[in-house]
Amino acid sequence: MNIVMIGTGYVGLTTGLGFASLGHRVACVDTDSAKMAQLDLGQAPFYEPGLEETLKSLQEQGQIVFTLDLKSVIDQADVIMIAVQTPPTARGQADLSYVLKAADQIGEFLTHEALVVVKSTVPVGTNRHVLSRIHERMCKQGKTDLAALIHIASIPEFLREGSALDDFMHPDRIVIGADDDVVFQTAEQLHQGIKSPVVRTSIESAELIKVCANAFLATKISFINEVANIVEGTGADVREIAHGIGLDRRIGPQFLRAGIGFGGSCFPKDVSALKSYAGINGYDFKLLSAVIDVNNRQWQRFFQKMQSVLGPLKGRRIGVWGLAFKPDTDDIRESAAIVFVQALVAHGAEVVAFDPKAQTNAARVLPDTVSYAPTAIDAASGADALVVLTEWPELRAVSFATLKTHMVDPVIFDGRNALCDLDLPAQGFRYFGIGIPDQHL
Ligand code: UDX
Repeated sequence: MNIVMIGTGYVGLTTGLGFASLGHRVACVDTDSAKMAQLDLGQAPFYEPGLEETLKSLQEQGQIVFTLDLKSVIDQADVIMIAVQTPPTARGQADLSYVLKAADQIGEFLTHEALVVVKSTVPVGTNRHVLSRIHERMCKQGKTDLAALIHIASIPEFLREGSALDDFMHPDRIVIGADDDVVFQTAEQLHQGIKSPVVRTSIESAELIKVCANAFLATKISFINEVANIVEGTGADVREIAHGIGLDRRIGPQFLRAGIGFGGSCFPKDVSALKSYAGINGYDFKLLSAVIDVNNRQWQRFFQKMQSVLGPLKGRRIGVWGLAFKPDTDDIRESAAIVFVQALVAHGAEVVAFDPKAQTNAARVLPDTVSYAPTAIDAASGADALVVLTEWPELRAVSFATLKTHMVDPVIFDGRNALCDLDLPAQGFRYFGIGIPDQHL
């Protein structure tokens, strides 16, 4: 099929590449001319494992193209996907202006029958609103008969940053929300080649499945983080508890890693959006308020723990490992690591940070006083303490014997429990994690 993808952010680009890999021809449209020029040269605008290689190879095969001009590609489209951003407004709702602008443009330029798919995460009711905007625009232009032939499907994405391309090919399920059997069939054809169960639902259920899945996963994280907070000092270990409860198939082992809290472009936004949607409808979704509160408090508790060990931070040199909201990405949106570093600076600490991919993005938002090191060891050189804020796997491979000789005081605060099994006290470190016994000789 010919697919037009409107929006080349994380979701649009990775999804576009996914469909191109399945053999469809994809035209990606965006208004950002610098980004499109970069993509045209086969360069990825953000870091995602395997993305640049996949991009180059699909470009060479002619399976994917990039353009600023929707009008020039829409004529060929069997399916038009909207994957533009839906940033949160000040009141926690999703800003739909980009989605609706895309709908207006589709209505304006489309002159043949097509299926429209909304990939952006949107509140319940948005897909129908998008369809009526397209119809309205078409009717205004005298394309009334054609308007009746434009259909919509909600096919939410569940891609994780850091493993998005693999997640596209191997999803746990493909959720298709539509009204019409023909639309279901077209949407299923679109995914041919992916061996995963298909869930056919109403459009509204599909919209809600996406935010409910993310809100539930965020709830699991806040739950285990609260458990971590109460077990400290008891001799219990939150990792053992997570393992013990996770083997119960009704609970499952995933998303039970305690730490300084969840971040990224989806979880905080989707939890707030679901809570705010409930509120608009007169329902107080108490559980989600707690999930958000626990998450906001989680990094602060760890910060206080560090202060109680180190004393006042003013003038102290702190090495920081990790700035991205999770490993394998350069994304710092809603990253707990960023808020943590901001607090370190606000308390007068001198921060030297290292992140394998996210330093450039972090430097755009962090105070100028933060400096950046080319290696993990350099970030900790001369430091009074080291804080781990993102669990990049390569940090485990650092020579801790060398690290110790570089630090003024060999003390590590690990906000992700990433190094807790390395027996760092045996190498002369004092080590503090989250929800695990403190380790020192
Ligand atoms: C998430 C969803 O997983 C994905 O399905 C959706 O499409 C987009 O949002 P992503 O934001 O890329 O994906 O990252 P994810 O791996 O889900 O992690 C989100 C946050 O939760 C990260 O900050 C991570 O560090 C944190 N997390 C995750 C924990 O703190 N503990 C865990 O056990 C798991």
